[in-house]
Formats: sequence, structure tokens, C-alpha cells
Amino acid sequence: MDKPLFSIRGLSKIFPSGHKALSGIDLEIEAGSHLVIAGANGSGKTVLMKIITGLMDASSGEVLFKGRPLALAMGSLRVAVGLVFQDADAQIIGETVEEDTALGPKNLKLSKDAVNERVSAAIRAAGLEGKAGFPARSLSGGEKRRLAVAGILAMGCQTIIMDEPFANLDWPGVRSVLQIIMELKRDGKTVIILTHELEKVLALADRLVVICGGQIVRDGEPETVLDSLKPEYGVRDPRCSYRTVRDCSWL
Ligand SMILES: Nc1ncnc2c1ncn2[C@@H]1O[C@H](COP(=O)(O)OP(=O)(O)OP(=O)(O)O)[C@@H](O)[C@H]1O
Ligand SMILES: [Mg+2]
Repeated sequence: MDKPLFSIRGLSKIFPSGHKALSGIDLEIEAGSHLVIAGANGSGKTVLMKIITGLMDASSGEVLFKGRPLALAMGSLRVAVGLVFQDADAQIIGETVEEDTALGPKNLKLSKDAVNERVSAAIRAAGLEGKAGFPARSLSGGEKRRLAVAGILAMGCQTIIMDEPFANLDWPGVRSVLQIIMELKRDGKTVIILTHELEKVLALADRLVVICGGQIVRDGEPETVLDSLKPEYGVRDPRCSYRTVRDCSWL
């Protein structure tokens, strides 16, 4: 049997300030799974993502990528795992939309034609057609998020981790990201979404993990997990119905 994509054992992160952002995280993520990791602001989602992708060191614990310690697996992880960062600005490197989207495939040493083909397809899928020559930094917040998604699509990674992919997106933007996630699923890719906006994505997930105060408090099939949510987790059950304006209250 194949080794899990990620095996995370006893992972903890304490910052120099003394703040314990993660403690005792045990998590196995199988290839091909469609996982949503939910939690309130500050619960530790981004720190977890950074540690399992080698962008931040853990204080203790172990992360294996396909059975190998992260330090030895970084080369293959960089090619196999694409990240859409929470901070879309931090992800922009190229001058224009087209140049930025091309950076990943160029690094993969693909032919010029193959790079161009991937870049056009990714820009189209992310709904940025007509903006290919635009300066990337002048895009709106939502367009920058679309650009980050385009860059990851162009890399063709087998696993995609998206940290708050819906932040700043309008309704068509959310729908186009969901469309992309559905296509990634159809292609057999592993998709890991970190968000507190469950109502947008949970229908596409086969597993829901809830983090609260740096610990995993729930892990399982989404319906079952939602049935056992506690108010202190800070995660809202999205299975509410909006029939009238009054129902739309989040209070
Ligand atoms: N570099 C850092 N130095 C010190 N503390 C940090 C650092 N990065 C994160 N933290 C703290 O760790 C905790 C978890 O942060 P994290 O960014 O993982 O939260 P999150 O679940 O992603 O929240 P959000 O929903 O707001 O994105 C927070 O309390 C944060 O202040
Ligand atoms: Mg975060």
C-alpha cells in the first residue's frame, strides 16, 4: 500500500514569545483526499500549512512526506505540492500576470510552447483572460487571489493546498475557484483547503478537520463532524437555510 502523502505526528509549535500555536497534532493525509481544515482566526491553520510544507520549522514532532522526513523530501515536495498562500501579495513575483503565472512551469524546465500552453490555460481557468499583460501588483485583491490560483494550476502539481482561497473573492470568483477545485478532484489530485468559510467548500470535501487553539478537536466525515461542533470551536455549521432576509443574520 502507498505511504500517506503526509504523516504528521506529535507536531507542536511554540513561538519565541511563548505562544503555543500548535500542540500534539497527529494527522495522516492520504493521496487523493479532499480535505478541509477549519478553525477560527488564530487557531493554527496557516502555521500548520507552513510547517508541513517546510516553510516553517516545528518545535517538536515529525512530518513525513510520502514516508520520508520532510528535510529529505523537500525536492520532491516542491514539485508535487502547490500552495495558494493566504496573503496573495506575498505570492506575486513576476511583473505581469502572464510572467507571474509562467514562473512555476519555467522552473520545471518545460519547453517554451508547453509553458505558453499551460499559462494561457491557467489564466483562462482562473478567470483572468484579458488581463495577461496587466502589472500583477496592480490587480485588485480578488484578482490577486485568482492569479495565485493560476500560478498553481500552471505548475500542474499533484497536490494543491489553498489557504483561505475565498478571501476577497466575489461570488463569480468563489464559483470559479470551486470549479477549479472540482476539476482538480476530477483529475485525481489531492486538495487541502484551509478556511473558516465552510459554507463555500464543504460540499466538495470528503473529510473535515477542525482545529481549535492549536489542537485537532474533530476529524472525520463532514456531516458527522458538523453534528458534533461546539460553540467554542468558532466554526459555524453551514447547514442553515436562508429563506428570508431575517435568516441571514450571523448573530
Ligand atoms: N511568526 C509568528 N510569530 C509569532 N506568532 C505567530 C507567528 N505566526 C503565527 N503566530 C501566531 O500563531 C497563531 C496561529 O496563527 P495562524 O496564522 O496559523 O492562524 P490561522 O488559523 O491561520 O488564522 P486565520 O484564520 O486568521 O488565518 C496566532 O495566534 C498567531 O498570532
Ligand atoms: Mg491563516
